[in-house]
Amino acid sequence: MEEIKEKYENFKEQVRAQADIVRVVSDYVPLKKKGGRYWGCCPFHGEKTPSFTVDEGKGLFHCFGCGVGGDVFTFIMKIENRSFPEAVKFLAGKLNIPIPEQEKNPAELAREMQAKEVYAANELAARFFQSCLINTEYGKTGVEYLAARGITREIIDGFALGMAPPDYNKLHLALERKGISEDTIIKAGLANKRDNGGIYDRFRARIMIPIRDVRGRVVGFTGRILNKDIKEAKYMNTGETEWFSKRNILFGLDTALKSIKEHKQVVLVEGHMDAISLHAAGVTWSVAVMGTAFTEQHARLLKHLSPEVVFSFDSDKAGVEAAVRAVPIALHAELKNKVMQVPDGKDPDDFIRKHGKDAYIKLIAGAVEGISFQINRQLEENNITTLAGKVQAVSNILPLFLECKSDIEVAQRIRDLARKLTIDEGLIQSEYNKLKRKDKKDDFMPRSVHLAPQATTALEQAERHLLFALIKGNDVLTGNFTNQLQKIKFENAERAEIFQKTILFLQKGSKNLATDLFEVLAEKGASELTNILRMELPSTDLAEMLSDCLRQLQLAILEQEFERHSSLAAEYEKQGNEKYLQELSECRRIKNEEKKIITLSNEIKNKAMQN
Ligand code: UTP
Ligand code: MN
Repeated sequence: MEEIKEKYENFKEQVRAQADIVRVVSDYVPLKKKGGRYWGCCPFHGEKTPSFTVDEGKGLFHCFGCGVGGDVFTFIMKIENRSFPEAVKFLAGKLNIPIPEQEKNPAELAREMQAKEVYAANELAARFFQSCLINTEYGKTGVEYLAARGITREIIDGFALGMAPPDYNKLHLALERKGISEDTIIKAGLANKRDNGGIYDRFRARIMIPIRDVRGRVVGFTGRILNKDIKEAKYMNTGETEWFSKRNILFGLDTALKSIKEHKQVVLVEGHMDAISLHAAGVTWSVAVMGTAFTEQHARLLKHLSPEVVFSFDSDKAGVEAAVRAVPIALHAELKNKVMQVPDGKDPDDFIRKHGKDAYIKLIAGAVEGISFQINRQLEENNITTLAGKVQAVSNILPLFLECKSDIEVAQRIRDLARKLTIDEGLIQSEYNKLKRKDKKDDFMPRSVHLAPQATTALEQAERHLLFALIKGNDVLTGNFTNQLQKIKFENAERAEIFQKTILFLQKGSKNLATDLFEVLAEKGASELTNILRMELPSTDLAEMLSDCLRQLQLAILEQEFERHSSLAAEYEKQGNEKYLQELSECRRIKNEEKKIITLSNEIKNKAMQN
C-alpha cells in the first residue's frame, strides 16, 4: 500500500514538474507576454479586457477580475470540470507520462485500449498499402507516378508510402482477417458505414501517405489521386478524430526531429509532397502543415523543438497570404520566424527538383525575418510615392512593431522605415508612441491591478507573510516554532484553513506543500493561497520572517484585546461600576506586553543591521 502511494506521489510530482503552466493555459486562453508575465481574457468570467495572468516562474494563474487562482492542476480542475486526481491524469495524458496502473478507471482503460487498437489498425493499414504499392501489378502505376516525381524506393520506405487499391473492400477485409474489429476500422477513419449495413473502404486508388505523431504512431492518412482527370479532391485526409487533428499535427515531424535539433531550424512547407521532396533532396529538417493554416498549436509545438521556423510556402498568391497569416502567430508564440520564397516554380517541391539542394539552401539563407517580410509587402502594396500611400503603409506597419521584444529593434526599424518613405523619423516615432500607449491601455491592466496583492490591514499582511514563510520554508523551520505556532489564531477563515492544513501536511512530511494544499483547498482557499504565493517576498531568511510575523500577529491580537478591554472600561465607568478599574489594569498589562514584544523586535532588527 505504501509503495503504491509513493508511486502515485512520484507520478504527481513528475506531472507537476513537466506541466508548463503557460503551455497548458495557452491551450484554452490566448496569452500575451507583458512585463514578465502572461496576460489573457479570463476563461472563468466573461470579459473583454484581459485581467487574467499567468506567472510562469511561480507556476500560478490569477484573475484580477474575479479572483480565481491556483496552480496548473487547479486550472485543469476548473476548466475541464474534473476532480484533482482526474486533472493530474488529464495532464499526464497530454504530456505522455505513463499513468500508474492502479490509477486508471474502467472508462480510461477502455479508451486506452481503443487508442491502442486504432494505432494498430493504422499501422497494419500502412503495411497493407505499402505492400499494394510495391508487390502488386496494380501498384506499378503508383511506383511510376512517384518515380516521375523524383521519389525513389528509399523515400518510399522512409515514409512508408503506399497505395490504396481501387476496390471497396480489400483493406477492411484484410484488417478483419488480422483480428481488427469493424468498429475500430471505422473509428480509425479507414472505412465508412453503408446505409444498408456493412462498411466500405474510404481510400481507394490513391497514393497513401501515413501521418505519424511526434512519437511515430500512425494517426491517420492522406491519399493523393494519381490521375488529374478524375473529378475528385486531389488530396483526401482521414477525418478529424480524437487521434488525428490537423491543427495539432505537422507532417514529417517524427522523421525530421533529429535533423531539426541538429540544424536548430525547421523549414515549414504547405504540402506533404513538398516535405517529402525536400527530405528526398536532403533537406531533412522540413515538415508540412496539411492543407490547413499554421496554428497556435503548431507554433507551440515547434517552439519547444526549434529556435526558429522558416516558412517556405508556395510562390502563388495563396502562399504569400499564408505567410502573412503565419508570421503573427509565430511572433505571438515568441517563435523566431523567417519567410523565404521560391522564385522559380510553383512550390518547394518543383524548385528543389529543378535546382537541387544547394540552391534551396541558398534560399533558406536569404530568408527575411517575418516582420521585415510583412513590412516589405506593405511597401510594395501601397503606392508610397504618394502621401496617402505613405500614411496607409505606416499605419499598417506600426502595429507589427508592438510585437517586437526590444525597443532598440523598434528604433532601428523606425529609422529604416523613415528612410524608405522619406518621412521624418520623429513623426513615425510619435505615431508609434501613441499606438503603444493605446495598446497598453486597452490591452491589459484593468483599474486596480497590483502586481502584489495588497493586504488591507497589518494583521492581514502578517497572516499572509506568516503563511508564505511557512509554505516556502521547511519542517526544520516549523520545528523551532511549534510552541508559538500552536497559539496562533487566524482572523480570516481561508487563511485559518490554509494554516491548519499546512501544519497537517508538514507533520506528514509533504514534499511539495503548495501542490498538496491546492489539492485539498476549496475555491476560495485556492484563490487566497494564490494571493499568498504571488507575493514578491524574498525567500531567504524565512526563519526571521516567520518570527517577525509571529510577533506582529501577537501584537495584532494584543491590540484587539486592548480594544475590547478599553471599551469595557469606558462602559463600566459610565455605569459607575467598580469593575472598570480591573479593565484598566488589563489594558495596562496588555500595553506592557506589547512594549516587550516591540523592544524584542527592535533588538533583533538592530542586531541584524549591525551584522
Ligand atoms: P497544393 O494544391 O499546393 O498541392 O495543395 P501540392 O502540395 O502542390 O501537391 P502536388 O504537388 O500537386 O501533389 C497544398 C496542400 O493542400 C492540401 C494538401 O495538404 C496539399 O499538400 N490539399 C490540397 C488538400 O487537403 N486537398 C486538396 O484537394 C488539395
Ligand atoms: Mn506541388
